[in-house]
Amino acid sequence: MMADDLFIAARNAMANSHSPYSNFPVGAALRTKSGKIYAGCNIENASYPEGWCAETSAIAHMVTAGEKEIAEILVTALKKDGATPCGGCRQRLVEFAKPDTPVHLCDQNGINKTVSLGDLLPASFDLD
Ligand code: THU
Repeated sequence: MMADDLFIAARNAMANSHSPYSNFPVGAALRTKSGKIYAGCNIENASYPEGWCAETSAIAHMVTAGEKEIAEILVTALKKDGATPCGGCRQRLVEFAKPDTPVHLCDQNGINKTVSLGDLLPASFDLD
């Protein structure tokens, strides 16, 4: 299976999800152009709007490590096959990826569909 290592990294991150309010654990893992993998989970808060998404956690880890170029990203949710990044995360991904960057969507066993970031967020706002 292509990008199996991303699925494993995302599922491992998802296992640490802090989502006691939605009970909807999510994991994300991205590979940078340099070949490194950064993963993240969703982290909720008792003040509900203060929580954030798995993709945002993965991006935060990437940027903190000094990297800014996403080559591909994978998202997986425990309770929904084919879960896609939310609108806010699509915009955050646009900051560090390209319209043709692959976004892998998953069932419980691995990747079941790959779309491009441009498919998910056409005509996006950026400063280019
Ligand atoms: N969530 C993500 O982590 N990524 C998405 O792309 C969609 C939603 C999280 C946010 C919240 O913790 C939970 O899923 C339910 O919305």
